[in-house]
Amino acid sequence: MTEMQGNTDVRKKRVFSAIKPTGNPTLGNYLGAMKYWGRMSDEFDCLFSVAALHAITVAIEPKELRENTKRLFALLIAVGIDPEKNIVFLQSHVKAHAELCWILNNYTMFGEARRMTQFKEKSEKAPDNVNVGLFDYPVLMAADILLYQADVVPVGDDQLQHVELCRNIAQRFNGRYSPTFAMPEGRVPTAGARIYSLTDPTAKMGKSDGDDLGSVFILDKPEDIMRKFKRAVTDSDTRIIASADKPGITNLLTIYAAATDTTVEAAQKEFENGNYADFKKRAGEATVEALRPVREKYEALRRDDGALAELMRSGAEKAARIASRTLEKVYKKVGFVRL
Ligand code: TRP
Repeated sequence: MTEMQGNTDVRKKRVFSAIKPTGNPTLGNYLGAMKYWGRMSDEFDCLFSVAALHAITVAIEPKELRENTKRLFALLIAVGIDPEKNIVFLQSHVKAHAELCWILNNYTMFGEARRMTQFKEKSEKAPDNVNVGLFDYPVLMAADILLYQADVVPVGDDQLQHVELCRNIAQRFNGRYSPTFAMPEGRVPTAGARIYSLTDPTAKMGKSDGDDLGSVFILDKPEDIMRKFKRAVTDSDTRIIASADKPGITNLLTIYAAATDTTVEAAQKEFENGNYADFKKRAGEATVEALRPVREKYEALRRDDGALAELMRSGAEKAARIASRTLEKVYKKVGFVRL
């Protein structure tokens, strides 16, 4: 047993998750992940990070990266992650991430990294920028997780493979030296885990979707949200039920249920005798109401850049304290000469 695992009866289990500051966060990000993050601190000891280092594996303008990063940091707090009860920070403020990543590179096999689905997909999407950072992306992610001895890693199902790789790396390192890293478990949230595009309900709702009508953004104005729901594609018949051959209606039911904190079954019952036009309007209104407090809190946070920077500083300090303890152990075990 590792030292950390030996303490589980006295400490809460630790959660780590992160989100990349690329594109504009969507209703899918909110209902699928961020909304639940704010509720985890009662049960878990939580760290949430803005993974800005991960954002540069795909070309991005500095100005855009900067604005996206600030926006996402403020949004994490706005969705309900209380910085007094959680550690909220920018990955780029804690140098240990890049340092541990380098070390873990040496315990990651080229073959296993090459098998990552996301790497293959992104390589195909941008064949002229298949950079080494893109290849190394999951190793940096492993460093994020392992630095904090995370037990639980809430992720979208597209990231489970990366958490699996992280476990392999941890196991290899622990086996080669001695128990150093806690063994993390990837966990996909069960409620509203996947929200699809309103215009193409077979595709995930994209953050940087050029197709603006398909994606509802967390910070969209109410009238824009309503307009998007009005145009949402439905299906060819008139029944409001969730089923595999009705992806449009199923998606809207999922959104409605998650936005109002109910189940898809209950939502289905509620709209049993309804029509599509009315149902879309109600789904839109439910979304507007779910997002309203988030947008208001966000706007308040963005009015004071100094206060926001102070929150970043305090989060980074707390994170760095934990990270440096893990990194120190790793440096010793590997055999680096310490001063
Ligand atoms: N790769 C994750 C995503 O695209 C973001 C991420 C970076 C992450 N580091 C992480 C998620 C560590 C969980 C744990 O969604």
